[in-house]
Amino acid sequence: MLKSLFDEQKLSPVNSNFRFGGGERKNDEWGGLSFHNKEHDISVPRVEKKAGVSAKQGSDCSLAFKKPQCVRQQDRQEQQQGSGSKEGMAGHQCGSVLVTGANRGIGLELVKRFLGKPNPPKTVFATCRDPEGARGQELKSLTSKHPNLKILQLETTDPASVEAAAKKAEAHLGGSGLNLLINNAGIMPPCTLESATSKDMLDVYNTNLVGPMLVSKAFLPLLKKAAHASQQKGMSCGRAAIINMSTILGSIEKTPESYFFIPVVSYRCSKTALNMLTKCQSMGYKEEGILCTAVHPGWVKTELGSDQADLTVEESVNGIMNVLCNLSEKQHGVLVTWEGKVLPW
Ligand SMILES: NC(=O)c1ccc[n+]([C@@H]2O[C@H](COP(=O)([O-])OP(=O)(O)OC[C@H]3O[C@@H](n4cnc5c(N)ncnc54)[C@H](OP(=O)(O)O)[C@@H]3O)[C@@H](O)[C@H]2O)c1
Repeated sequence: MLKSLFDEQKLSPVNSNFRFGGGERKNDEWGGLSFHNKEHDISVPRVEKKAGVSAKQGSDCSLAFKKPQCVRQQDRQEQQQGSGSKEGMAGHQCGSVLVTGANRGIGLELVKRFLGKPNPPKTVFATCRDPEGARGQELKSLTSKHPNLKILQLETTDPASVEAAAKKAEAHLGGSGLNLLINNAGIMPPCTLESATSKDMLDVYNTNLVGPMLVSKAFLPLLKKAAHASQQKGMSCGRAAIINMSTILGSIEKTPESYFFIPVVSYRCSKTALNMLTKCQSMGYKEEGILCTAVHPGWVKTELGSDQADLTVEESVNGIMNVLCNLSEKQHGVLVTWEGKVLPW
């Protein structure tokens, strides 16, 4: 996708220091990142690069939410040592997770990681626009191995489809709530200030902003149910959370670093609005105990990100899974990277 954007828009990376990761590219592959609001940072170590273990090994962080700090530090040490084994973690089981746009890219990898955990959620809802179509087949093939995987048809821009998916999920959960909603589905069509039309802007807003709003609204009763039923105090992904998949390209403060590299005006505006939705949700759902956080997954090799991207989908999702394990009130209403660093709005 990104390569075709370069071709179509005759773009060149004029700022060769720019990284979608949130900082300037330096000699050190992962170095040189500069972020704000450091008190919110989770500082999850990039174990798979630095300790020489595979992305897969570093990722099976149980959603063992709200463990004491000393236990979390021990987990990190284990990860840094490359043990990758979380069998010894005294984790609570995460009841249920729902990922939109789960038939490919980051969404599909998230689903695989949740299913592959030593202590997987009781239900992993993977939503897809066309489960029976060719694009749904890789996701569908996972159901034979994983009875806890439930595929739901969901077109995020269609309120009827969203409502129907919420009803099916409610019936499947049989009285339990939904712990974790990941609004991942998104699009990034080419769009410059010169080419943008009303239709271009509205189409992207519909998918990247209205979709997550509709899905969050439809699943809110189930999220509230999970938050109220939970024994856990404080906010976490194990209790109840809405994670909106955003991007550094939606950060107004960071725009000068990347605008000429990749304008994608409609995409940027839609993700800035998604960031605002996240902030509004964090205000509106605070009393309910529902954690609301926007996540930037890095620049990832997917259809959307192109094969020129910095990160493999495994590396990005490895980081995201670690971040999800460690989110708390501190990251409520903020934008964090796949490495757990806070980005400015
Ligand atoms: N890749 C990156 O570098 C990058 C960087 C920053 C942020 N992100 C964000 O990460 C998220 C996932 O991106 P990705 O790279 O994994 O993209 P991707 O590989 O292009 O996958 C996008 C997914 O979203 C689904 N989708 C699109 N429109 C939808 C709609 N209206 N209703 C339901 N599903 C819809 C697609 O389904 P179909 O197969 O049916 O089209 C697909 O499953 C997006 O929100 C994106 O903005 C990605």
